[in-house]
Amino acid sequence: MKKKILVTGGAGFIGSHVIRQFVNKYPDYHIFNLDKLTYAGNLENLKDIEDKENYTFVKGDINDDAFILDLFKKEQFDGVIHLAAESHVDRSIANPTEFVVTNVLGTVNLLNAAKHIWKDNYEGKRFYHVSTDEVYGSLGETGYFTEETRYDPHSPYSASKASSDHFVRAYHDTFNMPMVISNCSNNYGSYQFPEKLLPLFINNIRNKKPLPVYGKGENVRDWLWVVDHARAIDVIYHQGKQGETYNIGGHNEWKNIDLIKLLCKVMDKKLEREPGESEKLITYVKDRAGHDLRYAIDASKLSEELGWEPSVQFEEGLEITVDWYLNNGKWLDNVTSGAYQQYYEDQYEKR
Ligand code: NAD
Ligand code: TYD
Repeated sequence: MKKKILVTGGAGFIGSHVIRQFVNKYPDYHIFNLDKLTYAGNLENLKDIEDKENYTFVKGDINDDAFILDLFKKEQFDGVIHLAAESHVDRSIANPTEFVVTNVLGTVNLLNAAKHIWKDNYEGKRFYHVSTDEVYGSLGETGYFTEETRYDPHSPYSASKASSDHFVRAYHDTFNMPMVISNCSNNYGSYQFPEKLLPLFINNIRNKKPLPVYGKGENVRDWLWVVDHARAIDVIYHQGKQGETYNIGGHNEWKNIDLIKLLCKVMDKKLEREPGESEKLITYVKDRAGHDLRYAIDASKLSEELGWEPSVQFEEGLEITVDWYLNNGKWLDNVTSGAYQQYYEDQYEKR
């Protein structure tokens, strides 16, 4: 019997990379992709593997308890890798409740289904919850988030992810649910919806539109190539210790404005524009409310215990990423039509 793994949110940015990696690397597993296909979910992200024998897409909502329980009953999954979530901080400021529903209640609903179906027979089973470094709050100029850092979320997004992490741990402590959690830093790479910093700015430079930098652009993020995140998820899913948390990060901190200037330089070169042309698009706009100053991850537990390290340097990863968006202009045009236009107006016209 093939091992069956349920990946939730597999049509999104990180989920599609996880699915691609697992489907290609593990022909002995059957990978199920459960996704509601919200604005952020796109089956085009998986075109290259959609016909593989060991892959099945299931359209559904993690909040639909009857549907989820039926799916667990029917397929008897060996493991769950849970990525489905509302994931954009600015949207969470505009509509916090949606984040509680999907990220907190949706996670609890999946835990209930796993608990019900696995009963107390947890041999070979695993519930892997994919989370974010944003649960730890904001750092000053120095220091790193470790697995022991106290949770201190500030945005409705990070508060909802923190809450979901607590529920996963509570199911472990109360019901012996076999689980692991990972908390990762900012990802970049192909197939990211252009509401997040890098794909948004790549698309705007491409279309010669203003680059809206929040505040003074002094906030710092630690950037990791999405393929390396998917590699870490693979390692942790297979070798992580039951009940443990692993931080994942790139040791790659960038002040937003420095990152944006580097991106402008790379784009000028790729688009054969005059040096400095894209930088002229930089426009400082009103800061994000509750904007965390700095995120930085100490990933030494993952590297020392499980031997994971990032595989590419940032400059190389950024070039690969820019090339991908420039070669996939149609993907960008498709996802930025329709409802996206309205979103863009709501977020930025008033700033
Ligand atoms: P994304 O927004 O690109 O994708 C989310 C996916 O979840 C979409 O395909 C969407 O259709 C699906 N989804 C949303 N609500 C659903 C529901 N109710 N039922 C079923 N499917 C639903 O997000 P992402 O950036 O790929 O993030 C994936 C996970 O990784 C999230 O849990 C996020 O918190 C976490 N994470 C993201 C980052 C990052 O930099 N993007 C960093 C660390 C952790
Ligand atoms: P984002 O990609 O939304 O990720 P997160 O908020 O989860 O870290 O934003 C990354 C950084 O870029 C963050 O400090 C906010 C900033 N930012 C801008 O300056 N302008 C923008 O239009 C966006 C979307 C983000």
